[in-house]
Order: sequence, then C-alpha cells, then structure tokens
Amino acid sequence: MFGPMSLLSLFALVQSNDNGLALTPPMGWMAWERFRCDTDCQEDPENCISEVLFRDMADRLYEDGWRELGYEYVIIDDCWMSKARDQDGRLQPDPDRFPSGIARLAEYVHSRGLKLGIYADMGRYTCMGFPGTTLDRIKTDAQTFADWGVDYLKFDGCSSNPLEQMLGYPLMSKALNATGRPMVYSCSWPVYVGSLPPEVNYTLLGNICHLWRNYYDIQDSWESVKFIKDWFFKNQDYIQPAAGPGRWNDPDMLIIGNFGLSLDQSRAQMALWSIMAAPLIMSNNLRQLDASTQAILQNKLAIIINQDPLGIQGRQLLTEKSKIEVYWRPLVDSNSALAFLSMRSDMPYLYHTSLGKLGYDVGIYQV
Ligand code: GLA
Repeated sequence: MFGPMSLLSLFALVQSNDNGLALTPPMGWMAWERFRCDTDCQEDPENCISEVLFRDMADRLYEDGWRELGYEYVIIDDCWMSKARDQDGRLQPDPDRFPSGIARLAEYVHSRGLKLGIYADMGRYTCMGFPGTTLDRIKTDAQTFADWGVDYLKFDGCSSNPLEQMLGYPLMSKALNATGRPMVYSCSWPVYVGSLPPEVNYTLLGNICHLWRNYYDIQDSWESVKFIKDWFFKNQDYIQPAAGPGRWNDPDMLIIGNFGLSLDQSRAQMALWSIMAAPLIMSNNLRQLDASTQAILQNKLAIIINQDPLGIQGRQLLTEKSKIEVYWRPLVDSNSALAFLSMRSDMPYLYHTSLGKLGYDVGIYQV
C-alpha cells in the first residue's frame, strides 16, 4: 500500500519537469547554427563564442523589441567550456573567452529581463570534444548551473551509449529539480536513439524534459528545413500527441536571417514552426538583420499561434498532387490556424479548396 507521502514522492519523481516552466514553447536565441564552435577570438572577436557575443545578443533582444514578443532565452551552446574541470571537479568556462564567468553573464542577462541557457553533454565529451557530464558528475553539474543562476539547460548526448542515456537523462531531470532553481530542461536524447518508438518513449520524455530534439541538426538551407519538416509530419502520429504545455517536440533552431533561405522560405519556416508548436529559438546574427527578415521573426500573428495556451501541436492535413500542402492547428476559443505551403518550383499557383475538405463543418467563420 502507498501511504500519502510515498504517493507524493512517486508523483514528484514522475512529474519532475512539472515546475511551471515552458507552458508555451520556449522562445529565444541560441548560438549554435550561426556561430558554431568559433573559438578564435584573436582573429574573429565579434563572432567567437565568448561573453561578448552573449552580452551583445542580450542587448539586441532587449533593445530591438524581441523580449516584449516573448524571445527571452539567450542560450549558450557547445564550446563555452575550459578543456579541464576546476580543482573541485566543476565545469568552468574558458577563462580567456569568458573572463567574467557565467554567474556574471547570467546577472547581465537577467538585468535585461532575459534568461540564460547553457549547454552540457550526457557523456564523456561534448560533440565538439569539451568535458562531458558522465553519470557520476550529473549532480555536481546541475548544482553548478543553479549556483550560477542558469535558467535553461540543453543536454546533448554525444559520447555516451543508450544505457547511459537511459539513466542519465532522468537523473539530470531529478538533479535539476533538486537544486530548487527552476530551469527549463531540453533533452537531445531522442536524436541519439533513433527518434521514434519503441526506442524513444515520448511519454517518459514528456515527464522529465520540457522539450526534446527529435531529429537531425538543422543547417542553413531550405533543403534542411524541408528534410526536417518531412520527417516531422511523416511521423506526426507518433510525435504530435506527445506535445503539450511543458513538453514540446523541438525541430531545432529558426535559421531565418542567415544565408540559406529566401524571404518566402523564411516565411515558410516561421509558419511551419508556429503550426508545430515548436520552440522559437533563433540562431542568427541579431546585430545585422534586415527589416524584412526581422518582420518575419517578429510577426505577431505567427507568435500568437505558436504560443497558443492550449499547446496542441498542429498536423499536416493534406498533401495535394499539385504539391500544395495544408497544415492545421486548433487554438483556444474554437479558433484554428491553417497554413498553405506550396512545394512547387514553377509559378505561383491558384489553389481552390473548401471548408469540407479542410475538415470544417458547414457554418459561418471569421477569417
Ligand atoms: C549536436 C547538437 C547541436 C549542437 C552541437 C554542438 O550536434 O545536436 O544542436 O549543440 O552538437 O556541438
């Protein structure tokens, strides 16, 4: 028999990500896709992974109207660390590139009403060869991040095996929780175990992580956006039901504002990510966005759809022979969002449809 206390602790164990964070998909900025592992601050001081980059991006989010729209997380990715842990076994930032330390950077970010995210890796090394978080280090690293005032952890999975991952991802969830500091927990686990059930248990992921990377890394091209889109919707029966407030599928960063997408393709990524209830985490150079790109990323309607409080992930409704694809997402108050995507490569195409075909009952609708 379970007494009330043990029931409670069982609940706490299972619901360990249930700390009231990420009730809508997280929004913000992340270094990886645009700035990669550029550690050469001699030659490239503006773009290397250093505290300057993250302070600058915090300034941009604060001053250029992003924060008000919900873009609040400034997220450090790989390559921030020193190659060695400190004498107490704690991770430490590279002293030349982060001379003020992460706690000071967190203060800076917080002073602008923003939140700081950081990167670690379940395994011996990060994907770029920096110190990883083996099972025995999980508690220490969670506590270090909490002590620094970190608000979000991306936990990658390079250099570990499936068994270590099965133990490590839930353990990190518990360890973050045990620090008492509310932190968003982003898990890359599914990427490393084949992305789909039965290898991936999406119910478990939803219980321990706020978001998870399902599939391959995004690159700066429309090819890459298409590849990810196709996988997500081909497998929507597995992954769409897994999403909801506090638990999100993550198709990876918004690459809008870089080199690979035309304006129409940028609009398409923004629309698809909004319909998908995907985290809106940009990776671009906020110092040099042109006005039309900024307008796409700051599109209020897309953001409202993305951030809908019901948190129901949208689905692909139709793929027509004409290569028009239709996407649909239910929203609060009997609203819904539709997106029409042309995958044609010839001409603008006049597409006819009907309420019935889109799954709507006969009635009067406001568009
Ligand atoms: C993996 C992740 C990326 C990025 C790199 C960093 O490839 O999927 O998002 O974090 O590692 O090395």
